[in-house]
Amino acid sequence: MDYEHTPVMLKETLKMLNPEPGQKFIDCTLGGGGYTKEILERIGETGQVLGIDLDDLAIANAELNFTTEIKNKKLILAHENFKNLPVIAKRYFTADAKFDGIVFDLGLSSAQLQDRRRGFSFNLPDAPLGMNFGDSIKETAENIINSWSIQDLAKIFKDYGEEKFAYKIALAIASERRLKRVTTVGQLVEIIAKASPKRIKIHPATKIFQALRLAVNQELENLRTILPLAVSLLKPGGKLIVVSYHSLEDRIVKQYFKQESKDCLCPPAAPICVCGHKANLKILTHKILRPTREEVLINPRSSSARLRAAGKI
Ligand SMILES: C[S@@+](CC[C@H](N)C(=O)[O-])C[C@H]1O[C@@H](n2cnc3c(N)ncnc32)[C@H](O)[C@@H]1O
Repeated sequence: MDYEHTPVMLKETLKMLNPEPGQKFIDCTLGGGGYTKEILERIGETGQVLGIDLDDLAIANAELNFTTEIKNKKLILAHENFKNLPVIAKRYFTADAKFDGIVFDLGLSSAQLQDRRRGFSFNLPDAPLGMNFGDSIKETAENIINSWSIQDLAKIFKDYGEEKFAYKIALAIASERRLKRVTTVGQLVEIIAKASPKRIKIHPATKIFQALRLAVNQELENLRTILPLAVSLLKPGGKLIVVSYHSLEDRIVKQYFKQESKDCLCPPAAPICVCGHKANLKILTHKILRPTREEVLINPRSSSARLRAAGKI
């Protein structure tokens, strides 16, 4: 099986996680297993990794590459949505199990981007407009494009794609779909290109494709839900690492880390604390980590990556 993905910011992630023999980790976005492989090599015979992915190809690839570790129960694979992390962890570990590190490498892998059946890439015109990370997600980009109202389309293009021409593109989609159902990447790219100004720096479909993917997979909602749940599964001193690829994801992580690293969340004007909130995270990346120039040269897909890490108090 050919599962192509070059792990992004691997060195930085491992430095932050610092896996040691006997420790337990969760890789919430297994992908090509790039992080998991390195963690497995450092945790000795008694350590364990729980690897989660929505994509059956990622799981099948790991089953092929980590046969011994799976047999020895050093690696446990879960073909699931990480939004259910507490339930998944309880299924394979004791109810009160706590972990030394939990990592999220958000978004999609190169293998998924290049998969002709998935519709993630605007460079594969014949692909169907699917865009889900796994079969358990029933929403599709095709359904959104053909059935959502103009207002709802414009809203996700604006909120999830930060697309300047959101309403214009939504209108163009609505007028085209009245003539013919939009089912392929090529059809959608053509509609977007016609409705966009000619002189823009990036491919005109970039932001719309990002918006559709985020909507299909509910990526931002999942991230908001999972951060506090992940923290609750960490040991004191355990690390939470998030690698994200655009400002919408990063903002969620940044705000959550900031909030959870404070002892009181009362408005600054409040004379005394009435919220009783206690900090449960120590931020480890006051300055956000970005890939090195060398990494971006070797793997241009890493260029938008940003890593934030925090330790549980
Ligand atoms: C960027 S790749 C991870 C690459 C991995 N770190 C590596 O080094 O090979 C992201 C992976 O997360 C998976 N994924 C995204 N959202 C998910 C979710 N909510 N639950 C489970 N897996 C998810 C995708 O299917 C994809 O395989």
